[in-house]
Parts: sequence; C-alpha cells; structure tokens
Amino acid sequence: MSVTFSVSTTSADRAVADLLVVPAFVGVDLGPGADALDHALSGGLAAFIKNAGFSGKAGEALAVPAGGVLKAKAALLVGLGEQSKLTVDSFRTAGAVIGRRGSKLKTVATTLLDAAPATLDAAAVAQALAEGVVLGGYKFLDYKSDASQPTLSAVKVLGTGGAAIRAALGRGATVASAVTWARDIVNTPAAEKSPMVFAQAARELLRGTGVKVEILDVPAMEKLGLGGVLGVGRGSDRPPRFVRMTYAPARARGSLALVGKGVVFDSGGLSIKTASGMETMKTDMSGAAAVIATMSVLRTLGVKAKVVGYAPMVENMPSGNAIRPGDVVKFRNGKTAEVLNTDAEGRLILADALALAAEAKPDAIVDLATLTGACMVALGDKIAGLFANDEAWGAEVRSAADRAGEPVWPLPLPVQYRTLIDSEIADMKNIGSNGYGGALTAGLFLQEFVAGRPWVHLDIAGPARANADDGSLVRGATGFGVRTLIELVTEYQPPPKV
Ligand code: BES
Ligand code: MN
Ligand code: ZN
Repeated sequence: MSVTFSVSTTSADRAVADLLVVPAFVGVDLGPGADALDHALSGGLAAFIKNAGFSGKAGEALAVPAGGVLKAKAALLVGLGEQSKLTVDSFRTAGAVIGRRGSKLKTVATTLLDAAPATLDAAAVAQALAEGVVLGGYKFLDYKSDASQPTLSAVKVLGTGGAAIRAALGRGATVASAVTWARDIVNTPAAEKSPMVFAQAARELLRGTGVKVEILDVPAMEKLGLGGVLGVGRGSDRPPRFVRMTYAPARARGSLALVGKGVVFDSGGLSIKTASGMETMKTDMSGAAAVIATMSVLRTLGVKAKVVGYAPMVENMPSGNAIRPGDVVKFRNGKTAEVLNTDAEGRLILADALALAAEAKPDAIVDLATLTGACMVALGDKIAGLFANDEAWGAEVRSAADRAGEPVWPLPLPVQYRTLIDSEIADMKNIGSNGYGGALTAGLFLQEFVAGRPWVHLDIAGPARANADDGSLVRGATGFGVRTLIELVTEYQPPPKV
C-alpha cells in the first residue's frame, strides 16, 4: 500500500474526501472537528453517540452520517482513549483504524493530529499516525486468487502543521514501507525463499539505496570459517548464504552493527520439531528481514552513522547430510560448540555473524532473533526479551524501542548460569543442562562471540508474529524490530573520544 500524506489548513466541514475521521476521547469529550459532525447532524451528535454506545476507547470507531452537509462523503469518529493518558502510540493505533476502515476507499481527511496535547512531540505523533495508517491497512494478498482490492492512496491531515509535520508524516511512510517489506518476506512461504532467493531479495531491495551488498556462498563461507552457518545449512538441498550490507556515509558519525537471524525454515533438523511446532517456522528469518528492511531506508532518513548489517541465511532441515546431535562445529572466532540439539540452530548461525560483526570493531552491536520458545514463556507473545552486556547500550536500545512503540523487557545474562552450557568435549554446548532459563542460556551462548563489545540481543520469538489484528499489527508477520532499529540508528550519537 502506498499512501501519500499531505497537510492542509482546510476546516473539517470543507475537506473533500471519501471519509472524514475525527477523534473522540473517553467520557465522550469530542476532539477537534467534531463541531462539523454535530452540524451535519443538526446538533444531534451527542445523542447519536450515546445511542450508539460509543465510548471513545482507543481503537473504537463509529460511523456518523455526513448528512450532505460535509464535503466528505462519510464520517467516522475514532476513539483515542482517555485524554489525560494520550501517548504517541495512541496515534499509531488511531492511524491503524484509518488504515483498516479506509482500505476500500481512496482518500481520507482527518483532524486527528490536532488532538495531540502540547506535552507530546508533534512530529513524533505525526510519524506514528502515518505508520499506523499504512501498517494497520497492511494486507498480504500475494497468495489470494482475488487480490484486486482498492487501496487507500491519500490521507489529508487537517491542521496547522506545516513543514515539520509534513516531513514527519513522510518519515512515518518511509518507516512503514520498510516494515511492510519485512512483513511481506516473512509472510512468504518458505518454499519461495531459499537462502539464495532471500539473499537475492535483499540485493534487489537495496539496489540504489547507497548500501553495498555482499552475498557469500558456501566456498566463501568456508574460507571465512563460518562453521556454524555451514553446519546448520548442510541438511538442506538449498545451500546457505551470508549477506553483509554496508552503509558508509561520508564523514560517518560512529559505527553500528545489526545482526539478524535468517532461518528461512526451521524444521528443527534431526532434533525435529512437532508438526504444530513447524507451522509458523517460515517466520524464523524475521530478524534478518528486520535488519535488511532497516538498511533500505538509512540514506532516505539521513542516518549519519556507519551501519553494517549481517544476515546469515540457512534452512534447518533433517537429511542424510544434516548435522547430528553430538557433532562439533567451529565458529569464525575459533570457539567450538557441541551441537546437542539441532533445533537450537539460531545461536549457531548468529555466533558466526556476531563474531564477524565484532571483528570489524563497531561502537556497538544489536542482534534480532526469533531465538527461543523460552522467551515466550517468560514474556508472552507481544514483548521481546532484551539482553545487554553493557548497561548504557542496553538503556539506549530500550529507549529506542519505547519511542518506536515496540515492547521490550530486560532479561539477565547471569554469570552463574554460564556453566549450564559447558560441554564435555567442546568449548560450549548449544543447549542448557537443566532446561530452565532457555532464553538466558541462549543469550549467554551468543555473548561468547561479541568480543566484549557493547551488544544487545533482542529475542523476538514472540512479537515477530501476531495471532490477531491488534492496533497497527495485522495477523501474521509484524515486522517487529524495524521501527526500533530505525529509531536507534537515526538517533545514534557516538561516544565522545577520550
Ligand atoms: N526458532 C525457534 C524458536 C521459536 C519457537 C521461535 C517458537 C518462534 C516460535 C528456535 O530455533 C528453537 O527451536 N529454539 C528451541 C531451543 C531449544 C531446542 C533449546 C526452543 O525454543 O524450543
Ligand atoms: Mn530451532
Ligand atoms: Zn529457529
């Protein structure tokens, strides 16, 4: 969906559109533009709302007759929740209502932005509104026989915003386009995204975006000693790839590494999953998708830092050539791991990617991975686990996620659990000894590969997928992490040289 956002000082009653969207708050306090609706109903708006049982809760919507008085063909009240509790995210959710309700229309006009209190950053609100419109209206139709659906093409934001708001709406549309790309490729069936095809999709997305793309094939990975990627990848007829993406603006301010798990399908390998456990495993490349999508908008958003993305891509399959429980792999940094469970494959491919990332000595590293079911046990399916080996960098990533409206929560990397991944014969084993704290032992495993550099690991096993439409989320792939990464790299300031 490609939506154009514009700003206009036209009043609500004179705005020409298929739909006029006006905010309302709990307590039936009406937002800006409601007087136009009231006029259309000859003063009967309050009674109409009461009779309809509309309460103004966040995400609630009520169609209001336009009465031939408005220039808009139809009108809609959208709840923003309690006026005293408005956040930037309230506007993303309200935008999502526009995206859904407007998905069969061409043009929408809205006074929503004027409902933002002065205590909120107006640009952040405008950006979130635009994100919500595009993301809430998201549909994945590639495999529907009838995909001929009209899509919303223009949203006119009514108010006195000016250039700053116009730019913020544009940023929101750009961010949403990156999230949309990630959702699309994550929703795509595994049959159609072999590591080779996935890598090629990254190359195509990044063409002309100022990002250099290198795709390493098996011989190239052998040369680099990426034993984890090669070990996991060898069970599949479709060989692994490793994608490195480099964005290096002139006079870069600092440098960051983004690493994403790219398992295009996780059957578990010889430690095979159950049938139901495999159902959603085409989404096991969500971390890589988020990194690639982020890389695609860095230049457009004027990012000043150097950013290098690393996406190991494999298919985890059982076969006569698959890695066996008990086999040992050697990673890029020389460390070894005994693979006791081939379904704990994410950490094996991330180990190589993190080691390569750390070698380039970036200021800091972030990885995203649909890594453990244990993280979902701990935090449910809407909140990502955040692990950090550096307090300041952990706080910075957490703050970026908060601003982006993507829920994360800190989990520890307890030194006293490190012995749980001690191996009889290798440096480590790839599962914990007692089955407890599986998200933590996975984090401790990854930590061995970052060479002590500031690093954050986001376990996105839960929030990478939504099981129901929810605000700006649509059932299926969410594109989780794209907004956080973009916020993080956009706001990044390198530490002062001492
Ligand atoms: N990709 C899975 C984790 C996952 C599970 C993501 C459910 C999303 C939903 C990962 O590769 C995996 O299989 N992890 C195992 C690790 C275990 C064998 C130590 C798990 O969590 O069960
Ligand atoms: Mn697995
Ligand atoms: Zn996996």
